Amino acid sequence: MRKHIVAGNWKMNTTVPEGIALAEAVVAKSAEVPADVQLIIATPFTHLYPCGKAVEGTRVALSAENCADKAKGAYTGEISVDMLTSVGCEYTILGHSERRQYYGETDEKLVEKTRLALAAGLKVILCVGENLEEREAEKHFDVCKTQIVNVLYNFTAEDMKNIVIAYEPVWAIGTGKTATAEQAEEIHAFIRKVVADKFGAEVADEMSILYGGSCKPSNAKELFAMADIDGGLIGGAALKADDFIGIALSF
Ligand code: 13P
Repeated sequence: MRKHIVAGNWKMNTTVPEGIALAEAVVAKSAEVPADVQLIIATPFTHLYPCGKAVEGTRVALSAENCADKAKGAYTGEISVDMLTSVGCEYTILGHSERRQYYGETDEKLVEKTRLALAAGLKVILCVGENLEEREAEKHFDVCKTQIVNVLYNFTAEDMKNIVIAYEPVWAIGTGKTATAEQAEEIHAFIRKVVADKFGAEVADEMSILYGGSCKPSNAKELFAMADIDGGLIGGAALKADDFIGIALSF
């Protein structure tokens, strides 16, 4: 059975003390969530060490929001995969649309980042998704396929066991506009097929595909009821422990 995952992407929010309090609140409430749901918090780099301490030995896993495309050395301001594992990260998000849009993240860089992350023992949450213009031009299938082919087709079926895809339509991120459950399911099923075409049905069947974009306790149940939606990557609603856990209770 595929893993159910609810991951909170904190983005550039909270101070370190606020982040520690949020991590502790998530841990405190996590007992309510069924054991088969993997909870993940993805925090800013500055928060990883103390939040890692807060979740250590609990069912809440720690994730970064990004990593460098180089292993080590003279790359001022960058954070390496070994730095991430050294503070207890199990996951890193890669290719978030905000990084693609504002920081020039390219598919080529994402191949390098994914390679380094997997080699360091990190699991990768790779984000894909179309913007509004692409959706309106009905190019969303092509856009997601190209992002997956350009990055993930460079890896092996074995690597895919440590990769999660998050489908995040850019027009639904932080806008309050959620994709309908049917719209999301249609593209999740398509993404699974793109994975199956390269890696086979078994790998595709076992892969968790998360939905992200204005997911909240009030709409999570409908989304998670869909056959190919295995959980969520949550932005705004992950900043309140009650909402985040409320989403995790929606399976
Ligand atoms: P919102 O849940 O705030 O729309 O953000 C989604 C997201 O980008 C998660 O990575």
